[in-house]
Amino acid sequence: MAARLAARAVSVKSSFRTRMLELAAGLDDIIALGRGDPDFETPPAIVAAGADALIGGYTHYSPPPGLPELREAIAFQLKLNNNVNYQANQIIVTNGAQEALLIAILALVDPGDEVVLQAPRFNAFDYMVKLAGGRIVDVPTLEEDDYALKAEAIGGVLTDRSKLLVIANPNNPTGGLTPRAELERIAKLAEAHDLLVISDEIYEKLLFGGAEHVSLAGLDGMGDRTVTVNGFSKAYAMTGWRVGYLAAPEWLMEAAVEIKHTLSICTPPALQRGALAALESGDAAVATMLAEYERRLELVLRRLDAMDISYGLPGGGMYVYVNISSTGLDAETFCLELLRREQVMVFPGTMFADPANQHIRITLLSPYDSMREALVRMERFVKAARGS
Ligand SMILES: Cc1ncc(COP(=O)(O)O)c(C=O)c1O
Repeated sequence: MAARLAARAVSVKSSFRTRMLELAAGLDDIIALGRGDPDFETPPAIVAAGADALIGGYTHYSPPPGLPELREAIAFQLKLNNNVNYQANQIIVTNGAQEALLIAILALVDPGDEVVLQAPRFNAFDYMVKLAGGRIVDVPTLEEDDYALKAEAIGGVLTDRSKLLVIANPNNPTGGLTPRAELERIAKLAEAHDLLVISDEIYEKLLFGGAEHVSLAGLDGMGDRTVTVNGFSKAYAMTGWRVGYLAAPEWLMEAAVEIKHTLSICTPPALQRGALAALESGDAAVATMLAEYERRLELVLRRLDAMDISYGLPGGGMYVYVNISSTGLDAETFCLELLRREQVMVFPGTMFADPANQHIRITLLSPYDSMREALVRMERFVKAARGS
């Protein structure tokens, strides 16, 4: 019967994840540095706001684009922190950044349109573009650039079918952070080629070493051609709340709201109230979590240096993208064997649209002592692989 699936229900490459999870099911004492889900609990004030909202009657539909007070607060924050001018009526509150991305892609991509995606990347982008019938065009980002995106590389892949550029900044899985000067070049390129852009900024609050994050929509000429996507999952440890948003030019709003309504009617309003509390009072909790991620990052980089293993220095996010080619193993074998022999779970670059099969993603999302133990195990494994 599988032959009767619709053509758009293209198969995704989830088989490797399944293999890892099956293997893990038979093992004890696993240290999981695989999924991008913070080990912290959602800050209590946010949980309380969500619970109060449920008790207080936020138990019905909200307007499809979201609660007015949350849309106002998001527009205000975007102006204050990101230097971008959106009115509240240009915001749609979504079920995670994931739904925001899908809405934007469904609203913008026609069959045959070329969509430019940085590689490596969060591979949900691939499935969404395929659902819309678009054609994916890769722009590689490189270890030697710490995985920052380069305007020149984008320019090199554009054709007259190129319609949309989707970037995540900072990026998952690499932590690549594209700096202002390069974003300005990308903005000029987008104008010159009449490209639309989706800028996924879900890691914008998780920046290392005081780095600067720049919202693409705030750059000259970009406001009317950029959809900004963001969410609460990562910075506020709210992955299970499923609240995110998109901020879009006015010309896109009616179509985007219609798609949002079709997909899910609205985002659960009590959870939207939790997101409002995050915006109003979550900054201190984010700073505390970020300080701990940075401490873990230093540990990981120190241990990788000691193993003589190279990586791109992440500018932000929750990940380190590590080049394990010097071990003589390909990345998928490395991940399976590291799990089997040392009970440490990390994911290979092949799960992130990186065909090289030479990289792994290590998350910074386990307690410090577990991370230290994971790195001791990894070092033992690397030494054994190198036969030393
Ligand atoms: C770049 C990027 N965008 C979006 C998402 C999805 O986030 P959400 O939980 O808000 O749907 C992720 C999750 O890993 C991500 O890495």
